[in-house]
Amino acid sequence: MNYVTITRRFEFSASHRYYRNEWSPAKNTEIFGLCALPNGHGHNYVLEVSVADRPNPTTGMVINLVDLKLIVDKVLEEFDHKNLNLDTSYFTDRIPTTENLVTVLWDLISTQLLDAKLHHLRLYETDDLFVDYYGEHS
Ligand code: NI
Repeated sequence: MNYVTITRRFEFSASHRYYRNEWSPAKNTEIFGLCALPNGHGHNYVLEVSVADRPNPTTGMVINLVDLKLIVDKVLEEFDHKNLNLDTSYFTDRIPTTENLVTVLWDLISTQLLDAKLHHLRLYETDDLFVDYYGEHS
């Protein structure tokens, strides 16, 4: 099939807090630990965006990387240097874990990649902790 996956790396910074209002403070601390502290904490996230397709026979490219950068930079503007709980609309009813954040980013990026196939997102919260997401279909 000659499918090739190409990956570009992006960085952004954001803060978050894990807390369920319907739980007691003690239960929040029990489940979420330091992540439940009232004023939150920040991360320097790294997002790897992988697109898979046959290389275009004319250009030799799976995707124009300038286009990919424009799309992802625009999506990440909404999150960069923001508090995920308070400054974005995606975590009013779910905890802004890295697991949930990667699915939000997938939805936003995939809808803008018109003829390219978003294959995989890898989101690093720290150097030694990351999540992988391939979309709902897999
Ligand atoms: Ni955190």
